[in-house]
Amino acid sequence: MTDVQELLLSRIRDVADYPEPGVMFKDITPLLADPVAFTALTGALADIAERTGATKVVGLEARGFILGSPVAVRAGLGFIPVRKAGKLPGATLRQAYDLEYGSAEIEVHAEDLTGGDRVLVVDDVLATGGTAEASVQLIRRAGAEVAGLAVLMELGFLGGRGRLEPTLGEAPLEALLRI
Ligand code: PRP
Ligand code: MG
Repeated sequence: MTDVQELLLSRIRDVADYPEPGVMFKDITPLLADPVAFTALTGALADIAERTGATKVVGLEARGFILGSPVAVRAGLGFIPVRKAGKLPGATLRQAYDLEYGSAEIEVHAEDLTGGDRVLVVDDVLATGGTAEASVQLIRRAGAEVAGLAVLMELGFLGGRGRLEPTLGEAPLEALLRI
């Protein structure tokens, strides 16, 4: 494990039985509150944006906004919010995805992504991969290309990578930490 990975891991707090019994919640607020760790995180994600040749950063509401915005600024790229349905005022594209119980929908302003764009999707956690997969579908429906998916941590035991890799194709899935 690199020094940066050790630093990031040390600032993620495990919260048992949240939001429900049997779930170990990964709380990133200690990491966000530490300027050295937060800067290291955004730097590592901005490096991925550069490596993948991204022209825009998409952040997934809500925690993906916290990470994706500084990554976009550091990489010198525009930031596009993918929001939970019903929050964007303009013409949107909407994508449904399954949750453990029921389903949810995300949206993007259609005019924010165009044919020439290469998009890096940024989020905090890859769990089942449902949210990320829906965002990839949304970006492609908008006519843009997916440059990659970058997350702070991947919860390997939930199988998100296996679900996403066929969808991502050549685009890399980069996780700074695998848990
Ligand atoms: C969490 C997390 C990821 C997503 C991962 O978001 O931030 O976005 O779940 O789960 P998946 O891989 O199974 O789709 P959530 O919508 O719960 O909360 P947030 O609004 O705080 O980001
Ligand atoms: Mg989220």
